[in-house]
Amino acid sequence: MPRPDDNDATTGPPTLPLHRLGFDPPGPPRPVALPDGTRAWHVTRYADVRKVLTDPRFGRARLRTSDAAPLTGQAGLVASTDLMFNQDGEDHLRLRRTLRGAFTPRAVARWRPWIASIVEQRLDALAGGGSPADLVAGFTLPLPVEVISRLMGLGAAARERLGHWSRYAFSDGSHADEDMAPALAEFAGFGAALLAERRETPGEDLTSMLVRAADSEGDIPESQLVHLVCGLMVGGHDSTMTMLGNALLYLLGERRDCWSRIGADEEGAGTVADRLLHLIPLGDDRGTARHAAVDTEVGGIVIPEGSVVLADCGAANRDPDVFSARRPDDLFRPLEAPTLAFGAGPHYCLGAWLARLELRLSLHRLAARFPGLRLVRPADEIEWRRNSTSRSPRRIPVTW
Ligand code: HEM
Repeated sequence: MPRPDDNDATTGPPTLPLHRLGFDPPGPPRPVALPDGTRAWHVTRYADVRKVLTDPRFGRARLRTSDAAPLTGQAGLVASTDLMFNQDGEDHLRLRRTLRGAFTPRAVARWRPWIASIVEQRLDALAGGGSPADLVAGFTLPLPVEVISRLMGLGAAARERLGHWSRYAFSDGSHADEDMAPALAEFAGFGAALLAERRETPGEDLTSMLVRAADSEGDIPESQLVHLVCGLMVGGHDSTMTMLGNALLYLLGERRDCWSRIGADEEGAGTVADRLLHLIPLGDDRGTARHAAVDTEVGGIVIPEGSVVLADCGAANRDPDVFSARRPDDLFRPLEAPTLAFGAGPHYCLGAWLARLELRLSLHRLAARFPGLRLVRPADEIEWRRNSTSRSPRRIPVTW
């Protein structure tokens, strides 16, 4: 769990770069109070976090029902009961099946040529604009937006609007209702219209595939399909943009020693990407929440029925019983065990293979094309994107 003293949280909004967040050493599950006073169990050891995420007695759906303690720090799409992520059991599986096969390693490997060409186009544009430049506006944002737009068959107008929708879809609850409601209604309206259009005129894109699969599955409420499409649009670029921005801040700010090897060796760049995914969290939260349906033992402690449980993947990814604490910053060393950066169990990140490929190609090609890339300002002076469940630089000014 990020420590407030490391992160300035008591004196203002977080400013510490994500790669420098401190985590308490993992230990047995323990009761904690959330900022709003809600009681929860904080789970930090690798084996315990895996257990919580994979055991069906810990679910998501009841977190959102009226008798469960409300979860603060999340609003918008992420808080909706119609979202696949907030469903359990058969309801969840039925939605997840509509995308079966779409994001497998084999399917994603087939996308490699066009993803690589999008990376090159972005690099050409960056080079064409000249030095200095902003890596967020020129690379970390447009690249994943282009990738998910091509996959889902989105037009130029939707691409322009994606950033705006994301801001509210992943709101941390700090947006005013009068701003939030119209933005989310417009987004849902777009999702519904996109589904209707692909029913009418199917294509080869993922949205058309999802419509076909949903029709053969039958009985899926339309609002859940709209949430699925909208969730893919924003989830498919926001996390990748966040990760890419925070990873580049770390590499260019503190690990320039790795830059030339990342540019020379794509395999090595892939290992670096995996290690950065493992080490750098997407935001400041203390873990992903679940609800205990019955009394359940985790790591020797019985977590009572009805409890909110926070599975802290960031702390678990640093568990010294699993990952060597001696050289966590040796970026070219493969991980000792599967990372929890993409979660585990039924809600394991659908886009994990896609995100890994995008990161690998991005870091490798950026370092190859711009061997002299440097930050204009140190990481401590970065202005952060706020009001969202994730945090990343608003701008990354660079020169070469
Ligand atoms: C660096 C990039 C990414 C990271 C670190 C990431 C991380 C995660 C994590 C940790 C979860 C599980 C959360 C939990 O169990 O509490 C998750 C779920 C999910 N992710 Fe990602 N993600 C990334 C990129 C993507 C992309 C590119 C897509 C879509 C193309 C995507 C789609 C999803 C979906 C749909 C879920 C919910 C799955 C379900 O409920 O069954 N993610 N992601």
